[in-house]
Amino acid sequence: MNPKALCSSSSSSSSSSLSSGSWNTSKVWIVHGIVAGVAIAAAIGARVYLGPVKKFRSRVVGIIPARFASSRFEGKPLVQILGKPMIQRTWERAKLATTLDHIVVATDDEKIAECCRSFGADVIMTSESCANGTERCYEAIQKLEKKYDVVVNIQGDEPLVEPEIIDGIVKALQEAPDAVFSTAVTSLKLEDAFDPNRVKCVVDNNGYAIYFSRGLIPFNKSGKANPQFPYMLHLGIQSYDTKFLKIYRELKPTPLQLEEDLEQLKVLENGYKMKVIKVDHEAHGVDTPEDVEKIEALMRELNMS
Ligand SMILES: *[C@@H]1O[C@H](CO)[C@@H](O)[C@H](O)[C@H]1NC(C)=O
Ligand SMILES: *[C@@H]1O[C@H](CO)[C@@H](O)[C@H](O)[C@H]1NC(C)=O
Repeated sequence: MNPKALCSSSSSSSSSSLSSGSWNTSKVWIVHGIVAGVAIAAAIGARVYLGPVKKFRSRVVGIIPARFASSRFEGKPLVQILGKPMIQRTWERAKLATTLDHIVVATDDEKIAECCRSFGADVIMTSESCANGTERCYEAIQKLEKKYDVVVNIQGDEPLVEPEIIDGIVKALQEAPDAVFSTAVTSLKLEDAFDPNRVKCVVDNNGYAIYFSRGLIPFNKSGKANPQFPYMLHLGIQSYDTKFLKIYRELKPTPLQLEEDLEQLKVLENGYKMKVIKVDHEAHGVDTPEDVEKIEALMRELNMS
């Protein structure tokens, strides 16, 4: 139907019955009032139906998976960074997040467990056979006494992780019921454009992930990185709906996941939605012993202890 025709016909009918413009205005108000009333009644009905209002996905646990064996860096979680074990630094940062009800370290190693208990962390022992951090998180939540709606997988090798990023992805997941997964990106430095270890991400207009790649996306027609384009770097931190975590680990590997060697792609390839938040963050992941010196130099520069 032509909206213009509808509009003109109603205005002509009202002007024929009453010439006063103010009546027209009050009629509009009444119509709006009725619509609002219906909406309020529906909202009240929904509330009665759902019982007391409870925040969606309200119970949140942060898990820091930490394994001793690592192909590139044996005993990495215990490496000292300006005199404190790296895992302790990550844990202390996570403690500052306001959305986490509970934080645990999930590890397969007694030395790591002992160290974590000594600075006051809760520890869950997981099996050595866990193939990845997600698996370790899953095993850990099975062993937790309480039930949680959301699990945040906090990488133990990001000792400078901002608590605001943790809170940001938790809130993003709570506010996007159609998403099962949330994660964060930051601006990609141009020098990292073609580094396959730096994972790039593109999102849609509503902030849902479209794709992740080790290659540069989007790819400029010129074949070079475009200094004007706001490319995004994926940060390792992620949170999941607990029910989805079970599905996630059971999903079979998918072609794009296997080709890029990026686990999160199987979420998208299976049609699930992932919410992405953009944050200001200098990534300081510790992958190699050389990274330790780099991060210590940076912390000294920033006067952090
Ligand atoms: C590609 O990058 C250049 C700058 O390097 C930019 O001027 C251009 O608009 C970009 N897009 C296309 C389609 O060339
Ligand atoms: C982690 O590894 C396990 C075992 O190989 C696999 O079943 C699972 O799908 C992996 N997790 C994810 C999230 O891909």
